[in-house]
Order: sequence, then structure tokens, then C-alpha cells
Amino acid sequence: MATVKKINHVAIAVADIEAALVFWRDALGLEVDHIEDVPSQKSKVVFMPVGESEVELVNPTSTDTGVAKFIEERGGGMHHLCFEVDDIDGMLAQLKFKGVRLINETPLELPGRKMAFVHPKSTNGVLVELYQII
Ligand code: CO
Repeated sequence: MATVKKINHVAIAVADIEAALVFWRDALGLEVDHIEDVPSQKSKVVFMPVGESEVELVNPTSTDTGVAKFIEERGGGMHHLCFEVDDIDGMLAQLKFKGVRLINETPLELPGRKMAFVHPKSTNGVLVELYQII
């Protein structure tokens, strides 16, 4: 049976990175590891490690992304929770077998990882991302 190893990251949608850092970095004291332009996701992402996990601030660079729509509708906020799993293909098969609705039936391959999203309709309203580090 595929298993969850840890929370890889929690992603927070933000309209303005500098404004968001006033809380996350300056007040709360999280360290910014790096800020990355992620063209495939049409966003800039601020990576802030917390123990073995990370907080990621996701700032859309285009208006036609899911995160941009999320910000437009709700003004930003917690966007998704990412679990690192030992076997993403096994986990997707396991979830499908249990009747869980998936956004990605097969994992997307990115440098260093495979990923897939689980539909919030099946997860009490939380967009869940799955990662397998490869
Ligand atoms: Co993510």
C-alpha cells in the first residue's frame, strides 16, 4: 500500500509577494530560501522551509490560472496542501479504487518529481497535491 511520508508544502495564494512577506517573513520570521519563476505554472513561488516541510507563497503571473481565479474570487488564502508519497502511481490507483475523484489520473513528470492533484470534492474542500520525489 502506498503511504504518505510527510507534508511537503502548504501553498498560499497571494496577490502581492512583498505585501505577503510583511507577515510570513518579517513578522512570523520564516526564512525565504528562494523565489522562483515557474513558467509552467504561470506563477512566481516563494519557498520558505519550515522543518522538513515548506510554506510556498504562490503569486500568479497571468490572469488565466487557477490560482489567479482563486485570488479573484476569495482574495487569496490557503490554496493547497501537498503530501509527499512513496509511490504516486500506487497512491493514485488506491484513491481511484476508493472512489476518490482525481484531477490528474496519471502523474505529471517535472524535474525531480512526479505530481498529481486530488479533487477538493473528495477531500472536504481541500485541494490536495501529491508528490513523489524522483
Ligand atoms: Co504545490
